[in-house]
Amino acid sequence: MPHPCQRREGSQVLELKRITVRFGAGGVPVVEDVCLTVEEGTKTVIIGETGSGKSVLILALLKLLPSTAIVTGEVIYRGIDVFSLSERELAALRGAKIAYVPQGSGNSLNPLHPIGKQVGESMAAGNLLPAKELRARVLALLKSFHLGDEERLVKQYPHTLSGGMRQRVLVAMGVAPGAAVILADEPTKGLDAARVRLVEDSFMRLEGKSLICVTHDISFARKIGEYVSVMYAAQQVEIASAEVFF
Ligand SMILES: Nc1ncnc2c1ncn2[C@@H]1O[C@H](COP(=O)(O)OP(=O)(O)OP(=O)(O)O)[C@@H](O)[C@H]1O
Ligand SMILES: [Mg+2]
Repeated sequence: MPHPCQRREGSQVLELKRITVRFGAGGVPVVEDVCLTVEEGTKTVIIGETGSGKSVLILALLKLLPSTAIVTGEVIYRGIDVFSLSERELAALRGAKIAYVPQGSGNSLNPLHPIGKQVGESMAAGNLLPAKELRARVLALLKSFHLGDEERLVKQYPHTLSGGMRQRVLVAMGVAPGAAVILADEPTKGLDAARVRLVEDSFMRLEGKSLICVTHDISFARKIGEYVSVMYAAQQVEIASAEVFF
């Protein structure tokens, strides 16, 4: 396989070019010179030891890092230079085109709104759907994750759910909208084996969408990954097809 910075074949949906991240001028890079080409409809898993820069890399590519972060390099989404977009254009890209399922037990759900409303918003992503149709779609989606008593769940507020449940709602939301790319940061963390399988199944069914998934779970990585990127001490030390890697 050619070096990830040189790969040009296929129809890439997302390209990271020489991404470097430092916190504060003169800080040591926590992500250094990382290149990644993601082709349409492919699944890439990022593995690597704790603190190697996986989450920072994911956050950097959507410009979600705090202002102390100094990010260099380029992110190209379907020919669009992401770092040159205005805040408004970025907001339109996030969620609608590039969905992000953050690390942590669903803390990024809005505590003020019931689950059904939040999932509905992520599904509609700018399209106006009749309320009844949207509700039916939200229920169908949540049912596909076997969350249990979905009719009740849509009316519940995030703080009334367990961490594992919130995490799965977030995964469902990341999978829901018309996004072409899904970024998921440790989506199976803290889930029991049966729940991990549900996440696996829903990721396997993501037809036509591209997935970049950070995980510590090697068997999960092996199940869903087509490409494997290995981070070590801020650098990507290996990128290979899953076939070669495993
Ligand atoms: N906001 C921040 N300010 C300063 N340093 C940060 C910030 N966020 C992350 N870092 C540092 O960047 C490095 C990479 O962190 P990152 O969260 O990307 O690790 P990770 O590979 O996701 O680890 P884990 O597997 O534990 O989630 C760490 O040394 C971390 O301390
Ligand atoms: Mg992380």
